[in-house]
Amino acid sequence: MEKSWDNEFQELVKALPKEDGWIGSHLYFYQGFWCPALVLKSFISFQKNFQAFASDVILATFPKCGTTWLKALAYITLYRSHFARDENPLLSSSPHRLVRFLEYDLYLNNPFPDLQNACAYEPRLFATHVPYASLPTSITDSNSKIVYICRNPLDMFISLWLFSTKLRDNNLRPLSPDEAFDKFYHGIYAFGPFFEHVLGYWKASRENPNKILFLKYEDLMEDTNSHLKNLAMFLGVPFTEDEEKQGVVLEIVKMCSFENLKELEVNKKGLHASGIPNADFFRKGEVGDWSNHLTPSMVERLEKLIQEKLNNSGLTFKLSCKTSRIFHPSE
Ligand code: A3P
Repeated sequence: MEKSWDNEFQELVKALPKEDGWIGSHLYFYQGFWCPALVLKSFISFQKNFQAFASDVILATFPKCGTTWLKALAYITLYRSHFARDENPLLSSSPHRLVRFLEYDLYLNNPFPDLQNACAYEPRLFATHVPYASLPTSITDSNSKIVYICRNPLDMFISLWLFSTKLRDNNLRPLSPDEAFDKFYHGIYAFGPFFEHVLGYWKASRENPNKILFLKYEDLMEDTNSHLKNLAMFLGVPFTEDEEKQGVVLEIVKMCSFENLKELEVNKKGLHASGIPNADFFRKGEVGDWSNHLTPSMVERLEKLIQEKLNNSGLTFKLSCKTSRIFHPSE
């Protein structure tokens, strides 16, 4: 059985369009998106074998758009009744350990992972980068909930480029800004093209707002408190008046802030299941950092691309924002 699936997989891979990825391994074009070689097989296992429960919560994100932040916020909010306020699990575990990726972690070496023990509490909480159209039907057709986060593509590009630079195979020459830009412009990066990914979730969220909560990094940065309260409501665990009075909302916002998480010992060391150092998930955490890196002609081309792709979709992105930042960890 395993052997024939292996053979089938090898045949499939041979037939797929292939491009060099950003860090050294390949990307395969499958089901309309560029799937990293590392997770192609695990993505297929996840798609075929995952059985969603109606109570499941799936955090779906585009890479480099705030996955780590969303994992931290959702985990603490959803499970806050399970631990004392001074025993916050984020103090001892990385957000990626607390909320595990389906394709990048749980299904990575096992087509039938033990999902029950992968989550410490009920309801189950998982994460994925898979586009909406490629999610297992048991997720899209059930009452499970999806929280999606994306980000303006200029900041996402810079975040991805600098992240990839750190992870790129030492034996390869570095990817120049122009090469990276060219690949980005043409949608060739893990789970790209960006616009198709974002629009897939955007349209689904408009059709079914009770199932999919659509968030943007910039909005979250501008007013984390309000968005956190909405998130809690969406997840079915609204903050009570008492909790608000006791400052629970602000406490979670502070705990999950970039400044706080980046400085925690647990996030400075150790590796994610995919081999990526935890520390690499924290860089600058700002809106508008693209202006320090992109040339005027790159900005012009991307602005045109955004207009073209998002035309008539009702979706817009802020390229800068008033941030409510902020906290010093000791505050
Ligand atoms: P920058 O590279 O622009 O700094 P992901 O978690 O999806 O990989 O996204 C990584 C981006 O989110 C990085 O952006 C990272 O610094 C930022 N980030 C990580 N944790 C964050 C947090 N708690 N609050 C805000 N941004 C955060």
